[in-house]
Amino acid sequence: MTYSIAVLGAGKIGEALLAGLLGGGRRVEDLMFTERHPDRAAELTTRYGFRAVDVATAAKEADVIVVAVKPQDIEPLLDELGPNLDVGTLVVSLCAGLPTTLYERRLPDGVPVVRVMPNTPMVVGEAMSAISPGRYATGDHLATVEELLSVVGVVVRVPESQQDAVTALSGSGPAYFFYLVEAMIDAGILLGLPRAVSEKLIIQSAVGAAAMLAKTGEHPVTLREAVTSPAGTTIMAIRELEKHGVRAALLDAIEAARDRSQELGRQHDED
Ligand SMILES: NC(=O)c1ccc[n+]([C@@H]2O[C@H](COP(=O)([O-])OP(=O)(O)OC[C@H]3O[C@@H](n4cnc5c(N)ncnc54)[C@H](OP(=O)(O)O)[C@@H]3O)[C@@H](O)[C@H]2O)c1
Repeated sequence: MTYSIAVLGAGKIGEALLAGLLGGGRRVEDLMFTERHPDRAAELTTRYGFRAVDVATAAKEADVIVVAVKPQDIEPLLDELGPNLDVGTLVVSLCAGLPTTLYERRLPDGVPVVRVMPNTPMVVGEAMSAISPGRYATGDHLATVEELLSVVGVVVRVPESQQDAVTALSGSGPAYFFYLVEAMIDAGILLGLPRAVSEKLIIQSAVGAAAMLAKTGEHPVTLREAVTSPAGTTIMAIRELEKHGVRAALLDAIEAARDRSQELGRQHDED
């Protein structure tokens, strides 16, 4: 479907989305963005061709407004957006922790808002995005957002009450995998492998394991059991992981991330 999209805040996530939409076949004239730094705006226009506009123009011209500024920059942006926005414009928030009620309080009454928790693999077209409707968003609005985000990854629908859990799992999730990969590369160094070789072995093992999980549809337990032979090498490693409480550490870590997300969200949930 053809509709115009304005991304407010073309930083890492905003640029990744715009580039993905362009790569996914959107017409360049249907894409625009706002950006505070003229140099950065000119660089994006030169690289991709889409237009840099001000917030008022974005509000007037776009059918869908995607908010991709840092959560701490939201207040002045909503001050600028509110007076210019038509009630028929769909607002999509990519901002971690900002509730739809914040937008609904500050924008014209009845504006549909969809909250999204994406993650950084959006820059390589492999995002995990969870979307939740605000008070005025309909099934059609959700379908529009699904269509829009599916060009840069996978999309699921969740109730907004689950967004803090989503933030802890897939929002922060890539960082946990980077941390594990980093530790495993160190283990290779410990065993005397050159760093470049260790990196290659672990990164490709991570890519291969992720592809098996995604493509075979098998449960992770089944896949792990298939490489865990009696008295073999893998079970010796698993015993150490269990001894060091790695599973319990992950449960605690993800719970701590969920708690912090709730705490940050409360700062915007006043009134
Ligand atoms: N990166 C992630 O892993 C991730 C994951 C999930 C969700 N998110 C969410 O995605 C959003 C963007 O994150 P990011 O990592 O892409 O941040 P970022 O790289 O800092 O991008 C934000 C951009 O918005 C610009 N900006 C701020 N206020 C503006 C305004 N009033 N008008 C126009 N542009 C404005 C910033 O300019 P300045 O450079 O001047 O500040 C910056 O270029 C955040 O809300 C974050 O919570 C990010």
